[in-house]
Amino acid sequence: MATTILAIESSCDDTGAAVIRDGKILSNIVAGQKLHEKYGGVVPELASREHLQNIVPVVDEALNKAGVKKEELNAIAVTIGPGLIGSLMVGVSFAKAMALALDVPFITVNHMQAHVMANFIDEPVPAFPFLCLTVSGGHTQIVLVNGITDMKLVGESLDDAAGEAFDKTAKLLGLPYPGGPLIDKLAQTGNGTKFKFPEGRVEGLDFSFSGFKTSVMYFLRDHLKADADFVKKNLNDICASIQSTIVSVLLKKMIKASDQYGCQQIAIAGGVSANSGLRQVFEKAAVKYNWSLFVPKLEYCTDNAAMIAIAAHYKFIANDFASLGVEPTARLNINN
Ligand code: KG4
Ligand code: ZN
Repeated sequence: MATTILAIESSCDDTGAAVIRDGKILSNIVAGQKLHEKYGGVVPELASREHLQNIVPVVDEALNKAGVKKEELNAIAVTIGPGLIGSLMVGVSFAKAMALALDVPFITVNHMQAHVMANFIDEPVPAFPFLCLTVSGGHTQIVLVNGITDMKLVGESLDDAAGEAFDKTAKLLGLPYPGGPLIDKLAQTGNGTKFKFPEGRVEGLDFSFSGFKTSVMYFLRDHLKADADFVKKNLNDICASIQSTIVSVLLKKMIKASDQYGCQQIAIAGGVSANSGLRQVFEKAAVKYNWSLFVPKLEYCTDNAAMIAIAAHYKFIANDFASLGVEPTARLNINN
């Protein structure tokens, strides 16, 4: 008999629902929240209220698009953390209520593990062990993936995440939130070698982006003093230079991790892995260093419920179910 699972994601500002049957994604619906744009970042209180508004229509749409009735579901899965507690609470309460009402198993999924698992949605899939660079708005991690839920953090950012480095420098340029995708777009017609920014020196496999952000701030202040139109005149080249600096830092650490662990199975994940510059540079590196490179489809990079669904599919097979007494956790390590 087929196994059909509904998965829900609500850890930050995207409300997502997906249906998976026997490992195949049947639908993947995401409702973003535009209202944070004018605040220049996600406002937690507003995010949880929006999730409350979105969750019923998003789940209905996911079921309709999949052509699946509630009664056909064999399990309900949800992101349990890490994330904003009020946002997580909406998805978790909803998922628990559905599991209870339908009398089916409840599956909890770690959001950071799910980003990694996005690499298992489409063929070919990585073989264990592999190294995954997970880069999002809240995290920058190098993960040694030994198994579906056996993940070890081997490097991370000591301050800002890579996505924050994009978003905060975009804000300095006067671009709306989230700036990452806009920098990507503007960088496409810019010269990434025109301006030089420091890459930040951190030992080992860890990262630091706060010095980079400050250097962009001083760079803009100094140039704007000399020419008030500096940003306007050079926007594409500044964006391309910002992007190439961030991407270069990420690539260098992945080369180091690959050497250190003798591992040439490399995957990328998270919102920043949607960046076209990053994808190109990693594809080139894969040829040079003989990597098997795994890159999720764009819709599976940024927050989505399909990645929760694929993680839940494997948990279902392993009979890894949760009690309805489990509470969401704002801070959750990847190895939990
Ligand atoms: O994974 P995600 O959707 O949410 C979190 O779990 O944080 O990642 C969001 C982050 C934001 O910082 C956003 O600016 C960045 O991913 N991002 C990008 C691109 N698309 C999303 N950054 C650079 N280039 C992109 N194309
Ligand atoms: Zn995420």
